[in-house]
This record gives sequence, structure tokens and C-alpha cells, in this order.
Amino acid sequence: MHAIVVHETGGPEQMRWQRADVGSPAADEALVRHTAIGLNFIDVYFRTGLYPPPRLPFTPGMEAAGVVEAVGEDVDTLEPGDRVAYAAAPPGAYCERRLMPAERLVRIPEDVSDEAAAAIMLKGMTAWYLLRRTHRLQAGETILVHAAAGGVGLIVCQWARALGATVIGTVGSPEKAELARAHGCHHPIDYRCERFPERVRAITASPHISPPFVARASRCRCDGGHGPEDGEGVADTTSSRLEGVRRRHSEQIGVRSRRAVRYAG
Ligand SMILES: NC(=O)c1ccc[n+]([C@@H]2O[C@H](COP(=O)([O-])OP(=O)(O)OC[C@H]3O[C@@H](n4cnc5c(N)ncnc54)[C@H](OP(=O)(O)O)[C@@H]3O)[C@@H](O)[C@H]2O)c1
Repeated sequence: MHAIVVHETGGPEQMRWQRADVGSPAADEALVRHTAIGLNFIDVYFRTGLYPPPRLPFTPGMEAAGVVEAVGEDVDTLEPGDRVAYAAAPPGAYCERRLMPAERLVRIPEDVSDEAAAAIMLKGMTAWYLLRRTHRLQAGETILVHAAAGGVGLIVCQWARALGATVIGTVGSPEKAELARAHGCHHPIDYRCERFPERVRAITASPHISPPFVARASRCRCDGGHGPEDGEGVADTTSSRLEGVRRRHSEQIGVRSRRAVRYAG
């Protein structure tokens, strides 16, 4: 089988498609033939070295879907032929076949495609910890979602609206504004042609904004509330630039910002 292998951290050229051994499943493992692989910024962070990779060389990739080809002797929850997906450490999904602990694999429902399953699990869990764990979003609260038309943003918009929140989202184009609106964002703001702090103030008629700010920058809140953060901004954003963005946005909106949560993957 083949896998993408990163021998040294750096740019995309560090990813090499090469032969690799996969071996046989241990007692608690399953051998999965990948049919779709999810791509996430965390893969880039490991590849560039922004996050220390688990080892070198290593294979990036945190989520995928596929078909079980073999199971270890202690595995009684899965059998060859099952369609499964996962989103779990350690990295290693950019490959044709992979051994995974069987307990980390979930069966894919019939009406969910492999592509959707491979793309949604990590982003879905991210949306969950933002909306249900880091801060338990309540009906009536207002949230500001950065990169609202991105993978995480689209899930957060739908979920937050379903919970009864008012959803404000920043996006980078009119097309993305429509996409975000179609996924539940009440007030998409194209930050390339509008100053979003003023729009947020106008929409809320108050400088008080409930969490979260999602993606690319920070999430902030006044009145001593949560200011958690996920992600590291765009792939080439240095932490000092990100810090500048965070401070500037907080000052513009008139709230205090604090860094509270980093991606824990
Ligand atoms: N995927 C996850 O499960 C997960 C987990 C934890 C944290 N995060 C973080 O959440 C953020 C968004 O992740 P995502 O999975 O939603 O990513 P995505 O689907 O690729 O969306 C990223 C969005 O960021 C904006 N962006 C602005 N400049 C960009 C650039 N130079 N390159 C790429 N995108 C750019 C774009 O929206 P606009 O054009 O509208 O600005 C784009 O739609 C990232 O910081 C990521 O690290 C993601």
C-alpha cells in the first residue's frame, strides 16, 4: 500500500507518496481500506511543525472513512465489509489502508456517503465542544462565527440556530455569505467590504456579544464570560499576527478577549 509520509516538517513538498507496510490487525484492531479522507488545518499544522508531530517520519491525517477488511481476534463489534469512519489521534489517515483500534471506528449509516462521513466527524466534534461543552449555548444568546462558510463554521451556524441563538457570521465573499445564510447564519457579514465590528454593533444594538468567536481569530465575550479559541488562524498566520488580530477585533467590538482553549487534538 501507499501512504503520504512527511520526513521533515515544512511546506507541502515535504509530503511524499511512498510505499508503506500496514501489517495485520492486533487483537483489538481493524484493518480499514480508506475510501475518503478528511482534510483539516491541523494536518497542515503538524506538517509545518506549528504543532510538534508525534514522530518523524509520520503520516498526517485525522479523519477518514472506509471499509473494514480484517479484524483482530478480540473484535466482536465489527466485521469485514462494514463501512466505517473515524476522527481520532494519532495522525495517519493519508494512506490507502490503516490499522485502527476498533473502538474508535463507527459504522456509517446507509444514507451517509463515505465522503460526508470522512469530512464531518472532526468538524462536528469541534462544533460540539464549542457549542455544548466550552460554553453551553442557550436560546436567545447571540454568537459571532468567524469563517462562517468554512467546514466548522457551517456546522456551527446550523447547530447554533437550531438551539435558538442569533447567529452572526463573517465571510470572505458574497457567495460565502449566501452559503452561510443557507446554513442558518442570520447575519452574514462580508468582511472584505464591510467593517464587521460596526455591523455587529448595529445588529446587536449593544457591544455585548455572547461566545463563541470561531475560527481564524479568537472568540470573545464581555461581562467576564468565555473567550475560548480554536484553531491557529490561516495556515500561514503567525501567532503574533493572530494575537494582533485578536486584540484589534476585541478593541473594535469593545469586549475583553482572553485565550482560553486551544485545539486539543
Ligand atoms: N476542522 C476542525 O475540526 C477544526 C478543529 C479545531 C479548530 N479548527 C480551526 O477552525 C478554523 C477553520 O477550520 P475549518 O475546518 O472550518 O476550515 P475550512 O473549511 O478550510 O475554512 C476555513 C475558512 O477560513 C477562511 N480563510 C481566510 N483566509 C484563508 C486562507 N489563507 N486559507 C484558508 N482559509 C482561509 C476562509 O473563509 P473566508 O473566506 O470566509 O474568510 C475559509 O472558508 C481553522 O483555524 C482550524 O484550525 C478546525
